[in-house]
Amino acid sequence: MLDFMSSCEVGDDVFQEDPTVLNLENRLSNMFGMEAGIFCPSGTMANQIAIKCQGQPGEQVICDELSHIYNYEGGGIAFNSGASVKLLNGKRGIFTSEDIEMNISPDDPHFPVSRLVSIENTCNKGGGAIWSLDEMKAISNCCQDNNLKLHLDGARLFNAIVASSYNADHLSGLFDSISICLSKGLGAPIGSVLVGSNAFIKKARRIRKVFGGGMRQAGYLAAAGLFALEHNIERLEQDHKRAQILGDHLNNLNFVSLVFPVETNIVLVKTSENFQAQDIVSRLERSKIKIVSMGKHLIRFVTHLDFDDMQLEEVLKKLRQLDD
Ligand SMILES: Cc1ncc(COP(=O)(O)O)c(C=O)c1O
Repeated sequence: MLDFMSSCEVGDDVFQEDPTVLNLENRLSNMFGMEAGIFCPSGTMANQIAIKCQGQPGEQVICDELSHIYNYEGGGIAFNSGASVKLLNGKRGIFTSEDIEMNISPDDPHFPVSRLVSIENTCNKGGGAIWSLDEMKAISNCCQDNNLKLHLDGARLFNAIVASSYNADHLSGLFDSISICLSKGLGAPIGSVLVGSNAFIKKARRIRKVFGGGMRQAGYLAAAGLFALEHNIERLEQDHKRAQILGDHLNNLNFVSLVFPVETNIVLVKTSENFQAQDIVSRLERSKIKIVSMGKHLIRFVTHLDFDDMQLEEVLKKLRQLDD
């Protein structure tokens, strides 16, 4: 990847003159049946641009209570867009069109105008849960019927695609915007691409500049994304298999009260009453195993490109020792 990055052709991307960035943007927008794309430094920026482009201050974003845009983007929905949020209580981040319909604001000045729906596939805090194509189609139809814009936070969209029976083509026409991370499972050091219509991306380009995300010779970074799309998608299956093995193993340990169904590369675990998540995180950290706590009794393991079978064996061994 590093060799490929250093050998690419670059230009000034703020003037849209970087051929490698343009190539990456075209590649992903074509893949998802969109007119255009814009390369952003992070998934957070891509999501926040999408939100800002598709609403006015005071309007409302409808999303699940587990969603990254709500929990982990520093309050950016309010900070950047002045928007309010209506939270839905889905199952592992996955909600239905009925949930949306029950929560759209009435046409009454007491309420914020519902403007945008955002879904997350896979859902991080839902333990890597996958939206089915039918579930996404139902949400898309509901948004069209109710004049709502629809954004997909696809930070781990390729994990969903590899683990399910749909591909990028099937998503064409369902969303107004999609953000796709090239870091995370795909293994690039940086970068997300936001895709949508020409008009949407024109607006997004202005907002990215205002957010300070206009980059100059960004082709070196975009090249990592191109490399990742070429080499690191099919292999996500290996991460999913290792996550399964890890999940099965965790299921037999005393400090674990529940392992959420493992669908992709995330293993979400509830610890037993007398085990604090943060304590497990600290104890594993001493063995150089980095996991995160997602609540008092919730821990998250993620398998990835730099985690191989030998490391998996080592983790299983350490977990057994922790349980003794
Ligand atoms: C679902 C989801 N969306 C967006 C992001 C934000 O990505 P970044 O860390 O590149 O800002 C993350 C990061 O973990 C994520 O899990």
